[in-house]
Amino acid sequence: MDYTAILERIRDDVQPLLGKGRVADYIPQLGKVRPDHFGMALVTLDGRCHAVGDATVPFSIQSISKLFACTLAFQLLGEDLWQRVGREPSGNAFNSLVQLEYEQGLPRNPFINAGALVVTDVLCSRFVQAESALVQFLRRLCGKDGIDYDGEVARSELAHADRNLAMAHFMKSFGRIEMPVQAVIDAYCRQCAITMSCEELARAALFLANGGVVPWSGERVLAPSPTKRLSALMLTCGTYDEAGDFVYRVGLPAKSGVGGGIVAVLPRRWAVCVWSPGLDHSGNSLAGVQALEWLTTLTGQSIF
Ligand code: DON
Repeated sequence: MDYTAILERIRDDVQPLLGKGRVADYIPQLGKVRPDHFGMALVTLDGRCHAVGDATVPFSIQSISKLFACTLAFQLLGEDLWQRVGREPSGNAFNSLVQLEYEQGLPRNPFINAGALVVTDVLCSRFVQAESALVQFLRRLCGKDGIDYDGEVARSELAHADRNLAMAHFMKSFGRIEMPVQAVIDAYCRQCAITMSCEELARAALFLANGGVVPWSGERVLAPSPTKRLSALMLTCGTYDEAGDFVYRVGLPAKSGVGGGIVAVLPRRWAVCVWSPGLDHSGNSLAGVQALEWLTTLTGQSIF
């Protein structure tokens, strides 16, 4: 399969969509990103990387961090993690509070904000600095020492974190958050502010396509069964309340972020990351979803 030629065709075909959609500006620092970026990188299990456009440009990974934070928490707690957070799609916006009250503060899944805050709480209770543990984990996963979070973006989000603070306090009132709320929010905003490129993110996600093992280092991140389970959660909950439409169009487990990145994996073959900052109404990258739909259509490869 000539992945490079396919990615080049996608890059050309996607041009009319670039600059469309809305860059997330509820975090002011993110609103400064040029909307017409497009990058895409696909890494196969043998470590070969096929990339086009802005595939090496770092961007704010935002909620894609929830995937890796959840991986770490799953490593730490195993199946006990599901006492703290559910595994069902929410059918609501990622930052919605409505379900929390009538479900006694138990978040639906680890990829909406409420669930991610519980996951960050788990990490805060185990590590002196949860965001540093996550940064180091990501460095190992993709084999790049330079990965870090962007202090400006973290501060910008912290200054506009009222809804996440409300959510965390509300969950704490149900006994669902163990650590001080401000410490959890600080760590959460920093983890969302981690910057990585498409190439780095595709490499970091490759263990999911490889039964839980990082192909080039041999590090076992998760056993095969939890790897399957995490990928299943990406399929049902990884792209906000558009997960159904996303799976219909793309047919891959994925996790998106409001920075415009989407990571997806094809088990036993490859991991891919696409980035374009213009978002659709649900917060997924407009050009990114289209690019992934074309990828699975042109290659004839998906999980189905
Ligand atoms: O909590 C927030 O608003 C962001 N830092 C993360 C948003 C995001 O990418 C969407 N999450 N599922």
